Parts: sequence; structure tokens; C-alpha cells
Amino acid sequence: MTSSPLPRYQQIAAELAAQLENGDYPPGSRLPAVRQLAARYGVNNLTALAAYRLLEQQHQVEARPRAGFFAAWPPSPQPASHTAASLPLPSAAALVDLHSRMSTLLLLADDRIPLQLHMAEAAPALYPSAELARRLQQTLARQPELIGAHLPGNTQRRLTAALQQLAQQRGMALSADGILPCHGITEGISLALRHLTRPGDTVAVETPVYFGLLQTLQGLGLKALEIPCTPDQGLSLPALEFALRHGPAVRCLVCVPNFQNPTGGLMPDEGKRALLQLARRHGLTLIEDDVFGDLYYGSERPTPIKAWDRDGEVIYCSSFTKSYAPSFRLGWIAGGRHHAALARLQASSTLAVSPLLQAVLAEVLESGDYQRSSQRIRQQLAAQMHATADAVLRHFPKGTRVRKPQGGMLLWVECPEGSDSTRLLQQALHAGISFAPGLVFSAEPRFGHCLRLSCGQPFTPALDAALATLGRLLSRQLSQDKDVPAASLPPL
Ligand SMILES: Cc1ncc(COP(=O)(O)O)c(C=O)c1O
Repeated sequence: MTSSPLPRYQQIAAELAAQLENGDYPPGSRLPAVRQLAARYGVNNLTALAAYRLLEQQHQVEARPRAGFFAAWPPSPQPASHTAASLPLPSAAALVDLHSRMSTLLLLADDRIPLQLHMAEAAPALYPSAELARRLQQTLARQPELIGAHLPGNTQRRLTAALQQLAQQRGMALSADGILPCHGITEGISLALRHLTRPGDTVAVETPVYFGLLQTLQGLGLKALEIPCTPDQGLSLPALEFALRHGPAVRCLVCVPNFQNPTGGLMPDEGKRALLQLARRHGLTLIEDDVFGDLYYGSERPTPIKAWDRDGEVIYCSSFTKSYAPSFRLGWIAGGRHHAALARLQASSTLAVSPLLQAVLAEVLESGDYQRSSQRIRQQLAAQMHATADAVLRHFPKGTRVRKPQGGMLLWVECPEGSDSTRLLQQALHAGISFAPGLVFSAEPRFGHCLRLSCGQPFTPALDAALATLGRLLSRQLSQDKDVPAASLPPL
């Protein structure tokens, strides 16, 4: 018995289903218009439409009013069958919500996304884990009592003496008594803000700005006043001056003058000095975040603003989380005339930093291990940055702009006008790639056409292929959106 051939619309639907299965149309991407499909298969529009309707019934495509047909997202699993593999991937659209940005981005650290470029993190292999493990063992063998120590006491004095030396190499003349170890810059900035502000106050920040800072401000009930920042010059001083003269009262400024996140911008020395003068004229306290300063690619480390601070009005925050040992979560603050208040606040919130980790870090600094390792780390980051930036320019559509930073691990990519990097992220996640879309770097809808890539991973053929995939998805997005009137573009 011979089976009768399938009706034409079912044959077309089967072919489209195979292409969807193949990944030719990633979830969320636009499918050919009905009349294009009809022309492709030499059928009339009604037959083509019937093929789409059949796939719609099978939940393989989605119809959007006035916009056409789109490849459907994979169905959400039933609650009873939740396993890591069956959970839906995080939704990029959730990043619109400021409250959940950080937690949504953290969720992207998912095994189903092999190429994770969304956080300001370097590959674990970049860090001197074996060397650090040896130091940890030696420290414990010599001072086993550190395990039972409640408060750091002498250990902290030894560490702050080593940090004073480090500060001197950066051009800062500090006293060891004015240095406070803390849990990364995150704690340092939070202490500084708690000390300087009250809920409802306004704090000036750069824009685009590190999303973690926006969330810290939000948690403390503070308003962010966003001041433009460019990859070339860093924070715009004319814009800051204008805001200070004409805007709401600003209590303090948080800035990242060395390899800013996300732009990678490095403020020139004269800009840093001018910023300090401007702040002094307006009675503005500066909170300087120098998290990336040790990751410079050139021959000289950039000088912190704190090096020119004669009044103790700059609260300087530094950290080893990017440049040496992410898991130690160790940083330090030089709070100038605010030091005692910051120490009191720390005592009432986190009490102190682990005596054991402080002791290991002191040894690492005294031995020169830190300086040697960070030199190797920054050379490797420089190579990865150059390779990544070149690949972006090779693979992304014409009109894409990047400015290679002179340090750090972050590449800011300005895609052609009209690009929607949040939509791109949703497609990229299904292709196993993540990045930070521009929208997360402001409380306003400002940078939707930009994205930030971490250059912390070794540059491999797989990474090159991932960037090529991003470039292709973006080109497709731009060419599809060109054909559709803006008013009918689907929402996120
Ligand atoms: C600009 C900036 N500041 C602070 C932090 C957090 O620093 P830490 O890990 O020392 O808390 C980050 C992390 O990405 C950052 O990009």
C-alpha cells in the first residue's frame, strides 16, 4: 500500500520545522514573510500561511500582530520536572528591571552557556592558584593559631604596612593607620556611601556605570545622577560642573578613573587633577574606585586621584579581586579624614576581614609575589583584549565601534544605531553565549545599542566563532528590522 503524499502546506511546514530544529532560525528570530515563503515554494499566500498556522499549533512558531511570524522559544518545563537542564534559560528581558539586574546577570553563570562574557571576570586559570595555595599552607603551618583568631589585631597592622608600601608605588603617601582592609571594593563603597549620605540624597556617578553600583545606591535609598563618561577621556568634567551648578544637590561622586567599567576609559592625569579641584570648589567628596588600576597594559600604572589629595577628602577604594585572588574578596580603603568613621561603620556591620586571609595577603605583598603575578596577568589580558577587539571588528556589522582600552578586562562595543543588544542577548543565550547588554549600565534607557564583553577568557577558536555568531545575529537583526516600520517592532 502506498501512502498518499502529504498536502503541500504540511510539506512546507515539515521543511521549516527541520530548519528550526537545525538552528537556522534561532528562537525569537523573524521568519520569512508569508509572501516570501509563498514565492520560495512556488505556492499561493494561503498555502504558505497554512504552513505557518500548522507550526503555530505545534508551538514551533509565534505570530505577532503586524510583525509576522517568529521562531518560538522552547517551552518552559513543568515545575515537577525541574532539573538544571530542563529549567528555562534566564530571560534577557528581566534585565530591564533595576532591582533584579545583578541577580539576573548572576543567573547567566549557567553550565548551558559555555561562552560566558557577561561579568567582569577573568578565567580562574589566569590567577596563581597553586602559588597562593602554597602560601596559604605555609602561613597556616607557621601560625596555626590564625584559625582560632577572632580579630585581626597584629595581622592587620602587618597587612596595612604592606599596603602602605603598595600605595607608595602608586604615588600615594598614606599612613598605615589610615588604611582599612575590607571585603572588596563592594564593601568599601558601601561603607563610604553609608557614611556620607542619607536616604533620598543624590550621588553623582558615571554613565554608562557599573550596574553593581546602581544596585548599591538603590539599596541605600540613594538617587543616581548620571554624568557622561567616554572611552577616551573618562568622566566629562564640563558635564559634571554643569550638573553641580544647575542640578540637584549632590552629596558625593563615585568614579572609576582607571579603566572604567564598562567603557574602559582612562582619565588623563590633568583630568584627575582638574576633577579634584572641581570637587574641592563644590565641597564634593570623591569616592575613587580603583578596582582595575593594576591591570594596565602599558609601562606605567595610572596614578590614582588620591595621590593629589591634600585635604583627605578622597575616599580611595582598591581591591585584589580582579588583579590577584578573586575568592579572597579582599580590598582596602584609604578614607583620609573619613577613616575613623568608616572603621566604626565596618565594626558595626562586618566587624573585620578574616585574619587568615589578611596574613596570607601580607606575605604575598612582602614577598613580591603580587607584583610578579599581576604583571603576568595584565600581559595576558592585554593580548586577549587585542584579539577580542580585532575579532569584533572583523565579525560585527559595519558601523560597529570599539575603542581598545589601555587596561582592565572589559571591551565596550557600540553597535550600529538601531541595534538592540538585549534582544541579541536572548538569541545569544540560546547559542550558548552571554554578554552584558548596554541597557544594564544606566537607570535610563540609554545604551540599548551597546554591549560589554569580558576579555578575561583566553582567545580561542571557539571564542572567535562565538563572536562571529554574535556578529551574524546582529546583522540579521538589523536587516530584518530595516524592513519593518518601527511602530510594529515587537517589544522585548
Ligand atoms: C567598577 C567596579 N567596582 C567594583 C567592583 C567590585 O569589586 P570587588 O570585587 O572588589 O568588590 C567591580 C566588579 O566588577 C567593578 O567593575
